[in-house]
Amino acid sequence: MRKKIVAGNWKMNLDFSQAQQLMQQLAEYQNNNTSACEVYIAPPALYLTTAKNTFSKGEVGVFIQEVSEHTSGAYTGEVSVDMLSSIGAQGAIIAHSERRQYHGETDSHANRKVKMCLDKGLTPIYCNGETLEQRKANQHFEVIKNQTEVALFTLTAEEIKKVVIAYEPVWAIGTGETATPEQAQEIHAFIRNLIADKYGKEVAEEVSILYGGSVKPNNAKEIFSKPDVDGGLIGGAALKVEDFSAIIEAFN
Ligand code: 13P
Repeated sequence: MRKKIVAGNWKMNLDFSQAQQLMQQLAEYQNNNTSACEVYIAPPALYLTTAKNTFSKGEVGVFIQEVSEHTSGAYTGEVSVDMLSSIGAQGAIIAHSERRQYHGETDSHANRKVKMCLDKGLTPIYCNGETLEQRKANQHFEVIKNQTEVALFTLTAEEIKKVVIAYEPVWAIGTGETATPEQAQEIHAFIRNLIADKYGKEVAEEVSILYGGSVKPNNAKEIFSKPDVDGGLIGGAALKVEDFSAIIEAFN
Protein backbone atom coordinates (compact mmCIF):
# COMPACT_ATOMS: atom_id res chain seq x y z
CA MET A 1 0.00 0.00 0.00
CA ARG A 2 1.24 3.45 -0.80
CA LYS A 3 2.62 5.66 1.93
CA LYS A 4 0.90 8.64 3.51
CA ILE A 5 3.44 11.43 3.88
CA VAL A 6 3.70 14.89 5.37
CA ALA A 7 6.90 16.57 4.22
CA GLY A 8 8.17 20.01 5.20
CA ASN A 9 10.14 22.06 2.71
CA TRP A 10 11.89 24.71 4.78
CA LYS A 11 13.20 26.53 1.70
CA MET A 12 15.75 29.26 2.63
CA ASN A 13 14.41 29.98 6.10
CA LEU A 14 15.67 29.89 9.70
CA ASP A 15 19.15 30.55 11.05
CA PHE A 16 21.04 27.68 12.64
CA SER A 17 19.76 28.11 16.19
CA GLN A 18 16.17 28.45 14.98
CA ALA A 19 16.60 25.38 12.81
CA GLN A 20 18.06 23.38 15.70
CA GLN A 21 15.18 24.40 17.92
CA LEU A 22 12.56 23.41 15.36
CA MET A 23 14.27 20.05 14.77
CA GLN A 24 14.34 19.35 18.49
CA GLN A 25 10.68 20.28 18.88
CA LEU A 26 9.77 18.05 15.98
CA ALA A 27 11.81 15.13 17.34
CA GLU A 28 10.07 15.53 20.68
CA TYR A 29 6.69 15.62 18.97
CA GLN A 30 7.42 12.50 16.95
CA ASN A 31 8.77 10.64 19.98
CA ASN A 32 5.66 11.40 22.01
CA ASN A 33 3.03 10.80 19.36
CA THR A 34 2.16 8.03 16.99
CA SER A 35 1.80 9.60 13.58
CA ALA A 36 -0.39 7.91 11.00
CA CYS A 37 1.91 9.10 8.22
CA GLU A 38 5.59 9.32 7.43
CA VAL A 39 7.15 12.65 8.33
CA TYR A 40 9.98 14.20 6.33
CA ILE A 41 11.76 17.53 6.39
CA ALA A 42 13.97 19.23 3.83
CA PRO A 43 16.00 21.86 5.68
CA PRO A 44 18.67 23.99 4.00
CA ALA A 45 21.56 21.73 2.93
CA LEU A 46 23.87 23.27 5.53
CA TYR A 47 21.75 21.76 8.31
CA LEU A 48 21.35 18.24 6.96
CA THR A 49 23.89 16.55 9.23
CA THR A 50 22.39 18.27 12.26
CA ALA A 51 18.99 16.98 11.16
CA LYS A 52 20.35 13.46 10.78
CA ASN A 53 21.86 13.63 14.29
CA THR A 54 18.68 15.07 15.79
CA PHE A 55 16.42 12.42 14.23
CA SER A 56 18.78 9.62 15.15
CA LYS A 57 15.92 7.12 15.54
CA GLY A 58 14.73 7.84 12.02
CA GLU A 59 11.56 9.44 13.39
CA VAL A 60 11.78 12.07 10.66
CA GLY A 61 13.19 11.43 7.19
CA VAL A 62 15.80 13.94 6.11
CA PHE A 63 15.73 15.30 2.54
CA ILE A 64 17.71 17.87 0.58
CA GLN A 65 15.84 20.56 -1.36
CA GLU A 66 17.63 19.81 -4.65
CA VAL A 67 20.45 17.52 -5.71
CA SER A 68 23.12 17.71 -8.41
CA GLU A 69 22.77 15.81 -11.68
CA HIS A 70 26.54 15.24 -11.57
CA THR A 71 28.28 12.56 -9.58
CA SER A 72 31.31 14.50 -8.31
CA GLY A 73 33.97 17.01 -9.30
CA ALA A 74 34.16 20.66 -10.27
CA TYR A 75 30.55 21.73 -9.68
CA THR A 76 30.83 24.55 -7.19
CA GLY A 77 27.95 24.76 -4.77
CA GLU A 78 26.38 21.43 -5.63
CA VAL A 79 25.63 18.35 -3.53
CA SER A 80 25.70 14.85 -5.01
CA VAL A 81 23.59 11.77 -4.38
CA ASP A 82 26.69 10.02 -3.00
CA MET A 83 27.15 12.78 -0.43
CA LEU A 84 23.50 12.56 0.56
CA SER A 85 23.70 8.84 0.89
CA SER A 86 26.91 9.04 2.91
CA ILE A 87 25.22 11.06 5.67
CA GLY A 88 22.17 8.80 5.70
CA ALA A 89 19.76 11.27 4.11
CA GLN A 90 16.57 9.70 2.83
CA GLY A 91 16.25 11.56 -0.44
CA ALA A 92 15.84 14.77 -2.38
CA ILE A 93 13.13 17.11 -3.54
CA ILE A 94 13.59 17.49 -7.29
CA ALA A 95 12.40 20.19 -9.71
CA HIS A 96 10.48 22.32 -7.25
CA SER A 97 8.87 25.20 -9.15
CA GLU A 98 11.21 27.67 -7.43
CA ARG A 99 14.17 25.69 -8.79
CA ARG A 100 12.54 25.72 -12.22
CA GLN A 101 11.88 29.46 -12.02
CA TYR A 102 15.18 30.71 -10.57
CA HIS A 103 17.68 28.02 -11.52
CA GLY A 104 16.50 26.72 -14.88
CA GLU A 105 15.61 23.22 -13.67
CA THR A 106 13.79 21.28 -16.36
CA ASP A 107 12.05 17.95 -16.56
CA SER A 108 15.04 16.51 -18.42
CA HIS A 109 17.26 17.43 -15.46
CA ALA A 110 14.63 15.96 -13.17
CA ASN A 111 14.63 12.75 -15.18
CA ARG A 112 18.37 12.25 -14.63
CA LYS A 113 18.22 13.25 -10.98
CA VAL A 114 15.28 10.96 -10.19
CA LYS A 115 17.15 8.03 -11.72
CA MET A 116 20.37 8.88 -9.86
CA CYS A 117 18.50 9.00 -6.56
CA LEU A 118 16.83 5.66 -7.22
CA ASP A 119 20.12 4.04 -8.23
CA LYS A 120 21.54 5.17 -4.89
CA GLY A 121 18.56 3.91 -2.89
CA LEU A 122 17.35 7.46 -2.18
CA THR A 123 13.74 8.65 -2.47
CA PRO A 124 13.07 11.36 -5.04
CA ILE A 125 10.18 13.73 -4.37
CA TYR A 126 9.52 14.94 -7.90
CA CYS A 127 7.53 18.20 -8.12
CA ASN A 128 5.33 19.34 -10.96
CA GLY A 129 2.52 21.82 -11.42
CA GLU A 130 1.13 24.46 -13.73
CA THR A 131 1.40 28.26 -13.58
CA LEU A 132 -1.60 30.54 -13.22
CA GLU A 133 -1.42 31.47 -16.91
CA GLN A 134 -1.42 27.81 -17.90
CA ARG A 135 -4.42 27.09 -15.69
CA LYS A 136 -6.32 30.09 -17.03
CA ALA A 137 -5.60 28.89 -20.56
CA ASN A 138 -6.92 25.48 -19.57
CA GLN A 139 -3.54 23.89 -20.31
CA HIS A 140 -3.00 22.34 -16.89
CA PHE A 141 -3.70 18.75 -17.89
CA GLU A 142 -1.40 18.99 -20.88
CA VAL A 143 1.36 20.63 -18.82
CA ILE A 144 1.18 18.00 -16.10
CA LYS A 145 1.11 15.19 -18.65
CA ASN A 146 4.18 16.50 -20.41
CA GLN A 147 6.11 17.13 -17.18
CA THR A 148 5.32 13.70 -15.78
CA GLU A 149 6.17 11.86 -18.99
CA VAL A 150 9.51 13.61 -19.53
CA ALA A 151 10.62 13.36 -15.92
CA LEU A 152 9.45 9.87 -15.04
CA PHE A 153 8.42 7.68 -17.94
CA THR A 154 11.87 6.32 -18.72
CA LEU A 155 11.76 4.55 -15.35
CA THR A 156 10.88 0.90 -14.96
CA ALA A 157 7.70 -0.11 -13.13
CA GLU A 158 9.73 -1.11 -10.08
CA GLU A 159 11.49 2.25 -10.08
CA ILE A 160 8.45 4.48 -10.47
CA LYS A 161 6.79 2.81 -7.47
CA LYS A 162 9.56 4.31 -5.32
CA VAL A 163 9.06 7.87 -6.57
CA VAL A 164 7.01 10.34 -4.58
CA ILE A 165 5.26 12.91 -6.76
CA ALA A 166 4.32 16.32 -5.41
CA TYR A 167 1.69 18.22 -7.38
CA GLU A 168 2.26 21.88 -6.57
CA PRO A 169 0.25 24.35 -8.65
CA VAL A 170 2.55 27.37 -8.89
CA TRP A 171 -0.33 29.76 -8.25
CA ALA A 172 -0.95 28.18 -4.85
CA ILE A 173 2.61 28.29 -3.51
CA GLY A 174 3.16 30.83 -0.77
CA THR A 175 0.13 32.79 -1.93
CA GLY A 176 -2.36 31.70 0.70
CA GLU A 177 -4.51 30.56 -2.20
CA THR A 178 -4.86 26.80 -2.12
CA ALA A 179 -6.28 24.53 -4.75
CA THR A 180 -9.68 23.29 -3.64
CA PRO A 181 -9.68 19.68 -2.47
CA GLU A 182 -11.59 18.91 -5.68
CA GLN A 183 -8.98 20.60 -7.87
CA ALA A 184 -6.21 18.69 -6.11
CA GLN A 185 -8.07 15.39 -6.43
CA GLU A 186 -8.75 16.02 -10.11
CA ILE A 187 -5.05 16.44 -10.93
CA HIS A 188 -3.90 13.66 -8.60
CA ALA A 189 -6.31 11.23 -10.23
CA PHE A 190 -5.14 12.45 -13.63
CA ILE A 191 -1.48 11.79 -12.71
CA ARG A 192 -2.36 8.37 -11.33
CA ASN A 193 -4.21 7.56 -14.54
CA LEU A 194 -1.20 8.59 -16.62
CA ILE A 195 0.91 6.16 -14.60
CA ALA A 196 -1.75 3.46 -14.89
CA ASP A 197 -1.88 3.87 -18.67
CA LYS A 198 1.87 3.47 -18.93
CA TYR A 199 2.64 0.95 -16.16
CA GLY A 200 -0.69 -0.60 -15.19
CA LYS A 201 -3.15 0.12 -12.42
CA GLU A 202 -1.36 -1.93 -9.79
CA VAL A 203 1.82 0.10 -10.17
CA ALA A 204 -0.09 3.40 -10.17
CA GLU A 205 -1.78 2.47 -6.90
CA GLU A 206 1.65 2.22 -5.25
CA VAL A 207 2.80 5.75 -6.04
CA SER A 208 2.34 8.39 -3.34
CA ILE A 209 1.15 11.71 -4.73
CA LEU A 210 1.41 14.71 -2.41
CA TYR A 211 -0.30 18.05 -2.75
CA GLY A 212 1.66 21.27 -2.10
CA GLY A 213 0.57 24.88 -2.05
CA SER A 214 -0.66 26.77 1.03
CA VAL A 215 -1.52 23.65 3.04
CA LYS A 216 -2.35 24.84 6.57
CA PRO A 217 -3.74 23.24 9.72
CA ASN A 218 -7.22 24.45 8.79
CA ASN A 219 -7.36 22.92 5.29
CA ALA A 220 -5.11 19.85 5.53
CA LYS A 221 -7.75 17.39 6.66
CA GLU A 222 -10.11 18.14 3.82
CA ILE A 223 -7.37 18.03 1.19
CA PHE A 224 -5.87 14.79 2.58
CA SER A 225 -9.30 13.16 2.70
CA LYS A 226 -9.39 12.95 -1.10
CA PRO A 227 -8.71 9.43 -2.36
CA ASP A 228 -5.73 10.25 -4.58
CA VAL A 229 -4.11 12.74 -2.22
CA ASP A 230 -1.54 10.87 -0.14
CA GLY A 231 -0.29 13.80 1.90
CA GLY A 232 1.34 17.17 1.52
CA LEU A 233 4.53 19.03 0.77
CA ILE A 234 4.35 21.92 3.18
CA GLY A 235 6.20 25.24 2.94
CA GLY A 236 5.35 28.07 5.33
CA ALA A 237 3.38 25.92 7.77
CA ALA A 238 6.38 23.60 8.21
CA LEU A 239 8.31 26.34 10.01
CA LYS A 240 6.32 26.15 13.24
CA VAL A 241 6.01 22.92 15.15
CA GLU A 242 2.41 23.69 16.18
CA ASP A 243 1.32 24.12 12.56
CA PHE A 244 3.35 21.24 11.16
CA SER A 245 2.22 18.82 13.84
CA ALA A 246 -1.40 19.88 13.32
CA ILE A 247 -1.01 19.00 9.65
CA ILE A 248 0.53 15.62 10.57
CA GLU A 249 -2.51 15.05 12.79
CA ALA A 250 -4.83 15.62 9.85
CA PHE A 251 -4.19 11.95 9.12
CA ASN A 252 -5.28 10.76 12.57
P1 13P B 1 3.59 26.91 0.89
O1 13P B 1 3.05 25.81 1.75
O2 13P B 1 4.33 27.97 1.67
O3 13P B 1 2.59 27.44 -0.06
O4 13P B 1 4.75 26.23 -0.02
C1 13P B 1 4.46 25.06 -0.70
C2 13P B 1 5.71 24.54 -1.28
O5 13P B 1 6.27 25.10 -2.20
C3 13P B 1 6.28 23.32 -0.70
O6 13P B 1 7.32 22.82 -1.48
